Amino acid sequence: MSKKPVKKEDVGTTGHSWDGIEEYNNPLPRWWLWTLYACIVWAIGYSIAYPAWPMINSATAGVLGYSTRGEVAEDIAAVEQSNEAINTKLASVELNEIATDPELEIYAKSAGGAVFRTWCAQCHGSGAAGVQASGYPNLLDDDWLWGGTVDDIHTTITHGIRNETDDDARYSEMPKFGELLEEEEIVQVVNYVMSLSGTAQDASMVEAGAVVFEDNCSACHMEDGTGDRSQGAPNLTDAIWLYGGDYDKLLETVTYSRFGVMPAWSDRLSEAELRAVATYIHGLGGGEAAE
Ligand code: HEC
Ligand code: HEC
Repeated sequence: MSKKPVKKEDVGTTGHSWDGIEEYNNPLPRWWLWTLYACIVWAIGYSIAYPAWPMINSATAGVLGYSTRGEVAEDIAAVEQSNEAINTKLASVELNEIATDPELEIYAKSAGGAVFRTWCAQCHGSGAAGVQASGYPNLLDDDWLWGGTVDDIHTTITHGIRNETDDDARYSEMPKFGELLEEEEIVQVVNYVMSLSGTAQDASMVEAGAVVFEDNCSACHMEDGTGDRSQGAPNLTDAIWLYGGDYDKLLETVTYSRFGVMPAWSDRLSEAELRAVATYIHGLGGGEAAE
């Protein structure tokens, strides 16, 4: 490279002067200019070939038709295609057989975990432990409202509980005893219910409460209070509470009743996804063997 002229006489000045400081009128280096021109040419080419200029609702598409969204869709389609065979199998074997086929079981559990994190965790908690005293049950334990075989769980998930969208949803309704019993009777039966799980209670009420229970509650919660899965009536003896087991919460439950709702999932999830998430939940710890 030739040495650049640095004397005022050679290149002159730009004519600017700041407090007597002047600026030489050196030309821009060639390499710099050519890089700039190359960039301009490249940018024009790029904006013709690829999506580039924003418009009101979209952007210019580019003549190559490339889009990142299209690329993701292709990736998803490729994964779906590679899973097609196993999804078809998952959707068609007997539910109870999923666990006897190791490849299918591993796939179902991992796909089911993904379904759970997407669709179920907001209510049941990311670890499926439920939310205490909120009506969202823990799915890790063997305390089932509606049954813990993979078939029961699959039915619960497919049709949901007490929703208005699925005619086959699990349904039952505890009466509002505030409208049916005297206040005194409610206080008595609440104390009796507390005694069933050994929670501190007013012992003088328990005997009278047992009578109220027998007359009003045992049809659903059974004589011994252990509940009835065919009606989703919880076991009241195990100290596991859906809505809370302290006096105030129980008084509220018995007076106003509860009505836990879960959506049906059959319209949002494929049969393979329903079975995957049922298998996943069944495998969390509380799953029961088929009768
Ligand atoms: C909008 C909140 C909500 C979402 C989302 C939700 N659930 Fe539920 N789920 C509930 C409620 C509430 C209950 C308890 C209903 C009752 O009181 O019987 C329940 C109960 C269940 C039960 C029955 C538990 C038992 O003891 O019998 C299972 C199984 C279950 N959910 C699985 C799922 C799965 C799987 C998903 C995701 C596909 C899901 N839930 C999403 C609210 C939800
Ligand atoms: C027609 C059936 C039915 C009758 C009768 C009934 N229950 Fe229930 N009970 C249920 C159902 C179903 C649930 C669950 C509601 C839900 O999941 O939202 C429930 C829930 C409860 C709970 C909440 C348990 C928890 O884990 O939080 C308590 C407590 C309870 N019942 C007490 C009583 C008492 C006391 C009586 C009698 C005075 C009674 N029930 C009568 C069906 C019944």
